[in-house]
Amino acid sequence: MKKTLGFLLATASLATASFTAQAQDNIPDDMKALMTKYTCIACHRVDVKLVGPAYKDVAKRNYTDAQIVELIYNPKPSNWPGYIAMAPMKQVPKEDATKLASWINTLDGTAGPAKGGAKKGSSKKGKKA
Ligand code: HEC
Repeated sequence: MKKTLGFLLATASLATASFTAQAQDNIPDDMKALMTKYTCIACHRVDVKLVGPAYKDVAKRNYTDAQIVELIYNPKPSNWPGYIAMAPMKQVPKEDATKLASWINTLDGTAGPAKGGAKKGSSKKGKKA
């Protein structure tokens, strides 16, 4: 009897654990760490709307990385009618905000290096003005 109960409990918690892992699966570990550290994960996922919009929907707005960083520091709730307002997250160091921003920008599903790739790097390197 005791044994059976223990087994059932173990199975139940395993199931819960794998469900949770699955729901956040498409977040790379380093980004998950940042999102956890700065609590973004409480309100955002890659492709489901939670308290805040799905990051893939943010990516579709074609912001630059710098614009996203700015929106992390100074959210504009008017960009997202129907959502509560996000609190300004000024505690996030710019370096980490930039990492999150450029990752968010990879999520729009177009997967083309075209826009992101061309914008980063290439403007500074290689070209003589
Ligand atoms: C308490 C919930 C909450 C937390 C925590 C949170 N957000 Fe948000 N976020 C929202 C909501 C709600 C919106 C949409 C309304 C708004 O922009 O104010 C949003 C919008 C955004 C947008 C879109 C901005 C725009 O104008 O298009 C980005 C990017 C974003 N969040 C990134 C982050 C990052 C990165 C973190 C962690 C550093 C974070 N959020 C933490 C709730 C949250």
